[in-house]
Amino acid sequence: MAISTLTQDLTIKVPAASVAANEPVAQPSNQFIEHLVAQHGAPLMVLDCESVRHQYRALSRALPGVVLHFALKPLPHPAVVRTLFEEGASFDLATSGEVDLVASQGVPSDRTIHTHPIKRDRDIRDALEYGCNVFVVDNINELEKFIAYKNQVELLVRLSFRNAEAFADLSKKFGCSPAMAVEIISYAQQLGIRIKGLSFHVGSQTASPAKYVTAIAACNQVINDVAALGLPALSTLDIGGGFPVPYNKDVLPIEEFCAPINDALAQLPETVRVIAEPGRFIVASAVTSVASVMGQAVRDGKPWYYLDDGIYGSFSGLLFDEASYPIDSFKQSNERVESVLAGPTCDSIDVVSESIMLPKLNNGDLIISRMMGAYTLATATDFNFFKRAEVIVLNDVVHVDALTG
Ligand SMILES: Cc1ncc(COP(=O)(O)O)c(C=O)c1O
Repeated sequence: MAISTLTQDLTIKVPAASVAANEPVAQPSNQFIEHLVAQHGAPLMVLDCESVRHQYRALSRALPGVVLHFALKPLPHPAVVRTLFEEGASFDLATSGEVDLVASQGVPSDRTIHTHPIKRDRDIRDALEYGCNVFVVDNINELEKFIAYKNQVELLVRLSFRNAEAFADLSKKFGCSPAMAVEIISYAQQLGIRIKGLSFHVGSQTASPAKYVTAIAACNQVINDVAALGLPALSTLDIGGGFPVPYNKDVLPIEEFCAPINDALAQLPETVRVIAEPGRFIVASAVTSVASVMGQAVRDGKPWYYLDDGIYGSFSGLLFDEASYPIDSFKQSNERVESVLAGPTCDSIDVVSESIMLPKLNNGDLIISRMMGAYTLATATDFNFFKRAEVIVLNDVVHVDALTG
């Protein structure tokens, strides 16, 4: 996806408000969203950087001592990068496009790691040119790609911990067994390539911290095994992303979720520095989407409302991410009937909800969806020439001189 499509947005320049420590950030009100639609039209994605700040701070508090590298993939937007950079965050990159994005926002390379386990030589060179020198491998073939760069790089070896319950079981596609990790580390020693540590990702939207606890214990064992073999000590453990957010189901509060993870991390040797790569948790609640009804029909006795945004646009996460967003009509009424919400394209899979209780809607009425920040816009397309939603940025990083100047 081209970054430029995500940068054609409008910024509402209001100064960053201070975030109360334990209170959730208020979602933009329906009235304010209606006002934005009156100004800019629909569909819109309203990105509130105050929510990004709040979530980053909440996770930092819940994981004391853990360096958070925001994984760009769920929402690679310049305002998110600026906001998190100002908060002191580090970044997790996976592609040359992501390298370009952080570089364009002035992020120094020593605040980045590159964690795609399978890379082209071009990807490695682009990251190295920028100055990012920490990479991830999970097999011998990938390790050998670094022979040419052995004096420049430090590697993490990614382990696999399967998790069928997660939205995305990332260990199906990436990662190796603990025994294979030791093999890779031994071979790297022969090749003269420095292995900095280990990483894993327990799967996106992981409901239980138990998966992290098991993974941390297994990594601790590998760290000990490596030391026992007389190989250079591993100094970093990257516990990945996966931290859950409430869509249509509650999840554990983040402090509670992280408590057993912190207990497991306390068992690691003191010399091991811990980092994480959260994505969804930081940005999911930051975006509210608004679409308008562009037409309607009655089919098999049920009202169908056709929106100007759908599966090929902001609701792409319904397919790619298995997410289910809190969706409601702007119009409130107690008289609701089972309805279908469809997207605008000519494709029959472009249905946002097969069954949703809605009041009688008119063309032009608004549908508002919350928790739309992660894996939505990032995977949207312009299929059928329906342009993806315009992004309106609230509470971006604004300095006082920019406001008064
Ligand atoms: C390597 C890596 N790190 C971090 C993330 C972010 O994960 P999440 O959004 O579940 O926090 C992903 C998601 O795909 C990933 O592949």
